[in-house]
Amino acid sequence: NQISIIGMPMDLGQSRRGVDMGPSAIRYAGVVERLEKLGYKIHDKGDIEIGRPGMAEAESDTNLKFLKAVTEANTKLASAVNDIVESGSFPLVFGGDHSIAIGTLAGISKHYDNLGVIWYDAHGDLNTSETSPSGNIHGMPLAVSIGIGHPALTNIADYCPKVKPENIVIIGARSLDEGERLLIRDKGIKVYTMHEIDRLGMTKVMEEAVKYLKEKTDGVHLSLDLDGLDPSDAPGVGTPVLGGISYRESHLAMEILEESKIITSAEFVEINPILDEKNKTAEVAVALMGSLFGEKLL
Ligand code: ARG
Ligand code: MN
Ligand code: MN
Ligand code: MN
Repeated sequence: NQISIIGMPMDLGQSRRGVDMGPSAIRYAGVVERLEKLGYKIHDKGDIEIGRPGMAEAESDTNLKFLKAVTEANTKLASAVNDIVESGSFPLVFGGDHSIAIGTLAGISKHYDNLGVIWYDAHGDLNTSETSPSGNIHGMPLAVSIGIGHPALTNIADYCPKVKPENIVIIGARSLDEGERLLIRDKGIKVYTMHEIDRLGMTKVMEEAVKYLKEKTDGVHLSLDLDGLDPSDAPGVGTPVLGGISYRESHLAMEILEESKIITSAEFVEINPILDEKNKTAEVAVALMGSLFGEKLL
């Protein structure tokens, strides 16, 4: 009944500055009070320090922008998350861009024989430096976690891979690059695109996803990119894609996850207050956390 919060003010994994203010925005939206009301004891462990590389490092010849700073910060995050798991508390990480999932998963996964991952996102984040159209590391963390990518990233916390492809479920995909499609087919990663969400409904999608993971995993990490939601509900993100999951469907998804009792860690990423409308996206994130941790109307 204890949740430990870590902020990861990281904006070097993509090119829209401002997502480093995500952790503050989430705190201002009242996350601690909200979760305390549900009976949890909250330890806010503050933010991980991110290096301040010169803009020269943005132009890398390896198509991995700010590789060194992203690696160093994720190494620190992995160690902090590891300590939280060891203390028996629930790790809750606030981004920052999605490159921080590399560190979160590195800190968590070695504590499980078979960690499952729910990747709630418009994107697959399965690029490598070879397939990435942007060189932005926030488009690569899921590939890195299955052991595909630059060794500096795949070997964080000194083990690799962090997750088995068959233990991953992507929900909300509607923008995939060609190399990501190939990897999904090749590795047999389970994906519920917007097509399946529209066709089956969110209830069926989540029930299937829970059943799929429950049978073979001993813990499940929820990595929720706010751009999985439709930009009309979550406008404060750097890479919005039309036709996303609604606010209501997202609450339903969180409620089904709460009932399933399978989630053992979580992160909420890609909130960019500079692009937001009066902190709406952080407020949406906090509301979803409410449902994930058991808030009920009656
Ligand atoms: N696929 C695109 C890329 O590799 C966009 C990735 C967006 N990722 C995210 N975490 N928002 O650059
Ligand atoms: Mn995304
Ligand atoms: Mn993402
Ligand atoms: Mn995004």
